[in-house]
Amino acid sequence: MIHHSWAEPFKIKMVELLKMTTPAQRKKALQNAGYNTFLLKSEDVYIDLLTDSGTSAMSDQQWAGMMLGDEAYAGSKNFYNLEAAVKKYYGYKYVIPTHQGRGAENILSQIMIKKGDVIPGNMYFTTTRLHQELAGGVFYDVIIDEAHDSSNLFPFKGNVDIGKLERLVKKFGAKKIPYICVATTVNMAGGQPISLGNLKDLRNYTNKHGIKIILDMTRVAENAFFIQQREEGYKRKSIASIVKEICSYTDGATFSAKKDALVNIGGFLALNDKNKYEEASNLVVVYEGLHTYGGLAGRDMEAMAIGIGESVNDNHIRARIGQVLYLGKKLNDLKIPIVNPIGGHGIFIDAKKFLPHLKQIQFPAQALAAEIYEDSGVRTMERGIVSAGRNSKTGDHYYPELELVRLTIPRRVYTQAHMDVIAESIESVYAKRDKIKGLEMIYEPAYLRFFQAKFKKL
Ligand code: F0G
Repeated sequence: MIHHSWAEPFKIKMVELLKMTTPAQRKKALQNAGYNTFLLKSEDVYIDLLTDSGTSAMSDQQWAGMMLGDEAYAGSKNFYNLEAAVKKYYGYKYVIPTHQGRGAENILSQIMIKKGDVIPGNMYFTTTRLHQELAGGVFYDVIIDEAHDSSNLFPFKGNVDIGKLERLVKKFGAKKIPYICVATTVNMAGGQPISLGNLKDLRNYTNKHGIKIILDMTRVAENAFFIQQREEGYKRKSIASIVKEICSYTDGATFSAKKDALVNIGGFLALNDKNKYEEASNLVVVYEGLHTYGGLAGRDMEAMAIGIGESVNDNHIRARIGQVLYLGKKLNDLKIPIVNPIGGHGIFIDAKKFLPHLKQIQFPAQALAAEIYEDSGVRTMERGIVSAGRNSKTGDHYYPELELVRLTIPRRVYTQAHMDVIAESIESVYAKRDKIKGLEMIYEPAYLRFFQAKFKKL
């Protein structure tokens, strides 16, 4: 049992110096970036909360592993170490490395989806839905209604509404639904977890209808922490055992190792079905590379294998989420409108409530992210109408219920003092919120527009 509070279970061996900027420099940088924080130069950023993806700090063990890269084209020993880690910690039979999560989503979508198929999911994720659509499928959101309400305190807002799934089965027939995509945790809902009880019910239901469950296990260890804290019967179970139990109710998984697994690049597709595995390992050669490296160097696979083991350590995950909760509590104490309960990988500010004078088409979350950067050099990200994109059939904007600014916390990178500075900046932007203007989109790319769109101030 752990009695002490959540100090980081590591000490710092090497540091990267941060650059401070002046308000005038930030104003200019923001104009050059078209008010899109994705288009800022990292050099001009003080504290970078754009994403927790690929931005975590590797351990000395992982760096040592990088020196053991076996850079053979085929059959690198690092691949076999990765395969062993996937079997040990996740229990899947077959694994194909990919350059990152979306590489796995592409292969999965192509081998599983036929034109006109229906793919349910517990809320969309940007790249996941796009690959489903490119493969000819149509995404349907089957997350519980509570997930769309930023102040609803339900502890498992990532749960699937099995009634919604049943309505899809009745309407389209189970044959049109090759699989349901289940994300742990649900990024776009604010890092919200799914419960094991819900996953078991979903397994029973899908077994009856011959529908597979594919896990988006990108933040599975963080989801396991919330199960340990909140779900009846799991208080004394280790994160590692909960993670393995989650995987055991699914047929396969896509993984962006850039999050939970503490590496700067990498991912995989895991499957239990031999035929599907063979199809996938043939296709991966076209898009990523041979099935024993999938777009990665041997050293990357070694760092991933080690990172997977570190990611399910109880002390690691407790400190990682402890830091997120620390920042969230500060913002709650300041009465800043954020998504509650606080999620696993970041704090999500409710921009509709923060800037009630702006219409959603004036891009409140995008405008707020820009304002926070201008205030302090803290870089955050829009997760609202810009990220949601347009309906590929009608061309209309999607208008998501949640219009959020994400303060994503990289793992093992920033200290508690950084969290204090971030909270101070949000507080000062909140004090001048009435003066914040909306934006107009002046450049819109065809795919995943949030990455490259440009705006001007209204
Ligand atoms: N699934 C989820 C839930 C994700 O959060 C991401 C990436 C992916 C899949 C795709 O993985 O980036 O390795 O290709 N999320 C990042 C983010 C980009 O900032 O939330 P990828």
